[in-house]
Amino acid sequence: MGRERIELKSPEEILAMRKSGLVTAAALEAVRAQLVPGAQARDIDQVAAEAIRQAGAEPNFLNYQGYPASICLSINDVVVHGIPGSQVLRPGDLVSIDCGAVLNGWHSDSAITQAVGPVGARAEVLMEVTRKALWDGIAAFAQATYVGEIGAAIEASVQAAEPSFAVLRDFVGHGIGRAMHMAPEVLNFASRQRGPKIRPGMVLAIEPMVVEGKPATSTDRDGWTVRTVDASLSAHWEHTVARTETGIWVLTAPDGGEAELAARGITIAPLA
Ligand code: MF3
Ligand code: CO
Repeated sequence: MGRERIELKSPEEILAMRKSGLVTAAALEAVRAQLVPGAQARDIDQVAAEAIRQAGAEPNFLNYQGYPASICLSINDVVVHGIPGSQVLRPGDLVSIDCGAVLNGWHSDSAITQAVGPVGARAEVLMEVTRKALWDGIAAFAQATYVGEIGAAIEASVQAAEPSFAVLRDFVGHGIGRAMHMAPEVLNFASRQRGPKIRPGMVLAIEPMVVEGKPATSTDRDGWTVRTVDASLSAHWEHTVARTETGIWVLTAPDGGEAELAARGITIAPLA
């Protein structure tokens, strides 16, 4: 992976990716309202698929390496890649939705975690610590020299907020563009490898996964569903983020990341 070529996007290509990113953002917004007690997972999947198609795009998860749905819906101890089917949401569930679209050949990928009704205090903290770690990682992408600094920032953010939580190591973020998964890998933790140099035109899917217990995972017999071995709760947040000539632009955030990054002293650098 380390030596694979990294696709650098022109400003016009980043603008095309922004359009894809806004479709994914709209689909996640449509899904948010569906995360209520009694909702069935496969219906939520359909809401996302319809929102994506109404915008003239296609769900890029569907049929990806045989994946059978348009979103991943991961409840409680399921960390990522839960397949939406007959599951029914219950009060107190912690649900992550991972969603992506392809528009005019350009991919976007984003994930949120949301509580179904009231959840325990620790679940609330886990959700917020993970969301904050994503934005701290995005801030690092805006300011760092090497991709490896993003993971270091994510891990430091989690450890500073809650030392008993763990960052998942089995799954990582990735480059994105004409394909959903491209070079480079974007670790969510500090590593001796500093990774490739950050350059204008780089677009990354940054996606911390954080668990309240141990970071070990196992995959169900369906070949997709990833769970924590100790059954502890997990959270997952993700954005597709572009490094432009002058700074950073969060392509899957409706405001381009303006509010969260301003809180960190960073001005976003949108292209239009
Ligand atoms: N956002 C997910 C990831 O980067 C994409 C899931 S691929 C699917 O791993 F096939 F599970 F949809
Ligand atoms: Co991803």
